[in-house]
Amino acid sequence: MRNLFALAGIALLFAAGCNRAPKSAEAPQAKAFGAAVVEVGGSKQAAAIGTALDQPVLVQVNDGQGAAVAGALVSIRVPNGGTATPAEGVTGADGQFTSVVALGGTPGRYQIVASTRDKNGKSIDLRLDEVALGYQEIQGRELNNLYCARCHDPESTAERVSNKDNLTAKAHAFSEGPVLNAMNDSDLASIISHGGPALSRSPEMPPYGYTLRKTEIAALMAYIRAIADPPYRTKGAVYAKN
Ligand code: HEC
Repeated sequence: MRNLFALAGIALLFAAGCNRAPKSAEAPQAKAFGAAVVEVGGSKQAAAIGTALDQPVLVQVNDGQGAAVAGALVSIRVPNGGTATPAEGVTGADGQFTSVVALGGTPGRYQIVASTRDKNGKSIDLRLDEVALGYQEIQGRELNNLYCARCHDPESTAERVSNKDNLTAKAHAFSEGPVLNAMNDSDLASIISHGGPALSRSPEMPPYGYTLRKTEIAALMAYIRAIADPPYRTKGAVYAKN
């Protein structure tokens, strides 16, 4: 039965593919050209692998004077099998274009590219960084929401009032790379397990060694490393240039 559905699905896909054949007629056409594409919102998000980012990606095309350009063609490319919906379109009256982006199936850093063309046909690119979280990191994010975010996340939500402003010592957001990246794995594990005093810091940072299992602390650390901005790099790792 399932196979039948799968077959029907494939047949539908083919049919949809054929329908798109007279593409040039439907494809969005540029009515105007810009000189720059800038971000309005949507970068620096983290989502589980294969899922859509919470906020859509929103970019704006501007002319040389920084004024919004309506009718400029924008395309969004997502690496590693991710998708953008729509992947291409023209900017509205406000010069903006929005797209829902889903990350691919591989955990790690994703660089999305939003492009437009200037009047000479030259491509102008804007890169937006996102993070796809793997299984362990998703577990870490859930634990963060349960135990840590009330102090470490400056934003209050409907479910959670931030406690951050009530603290004397500063609890940093886990995405604050300059602070978190400066801590090695053993210090990170130590402050989470034994609390602030383990590193001669404030006891306002409670110990979690009794509440959380080692695997859970490892998951929290994986999450903290995954979302660091700028990215965390272990010493000795070799990274390809660009
Ligand atoms: C009751 C508030 C509170 C909660 C809950 C809390 N922390 Fe903290 N945490 C702090 C404060 C305050 C500091 C800063 C301590 C200092 O610098 O003296 C801190 C510091 C840290 C640091 C060092 C980096 C930094 O922000 O300065 C790490 C890592 C950390 N906490 C991890 C966690 C994790 C993981 C959890 C959840 C399992 C958690 N914290 C829960 C208050 C909290």
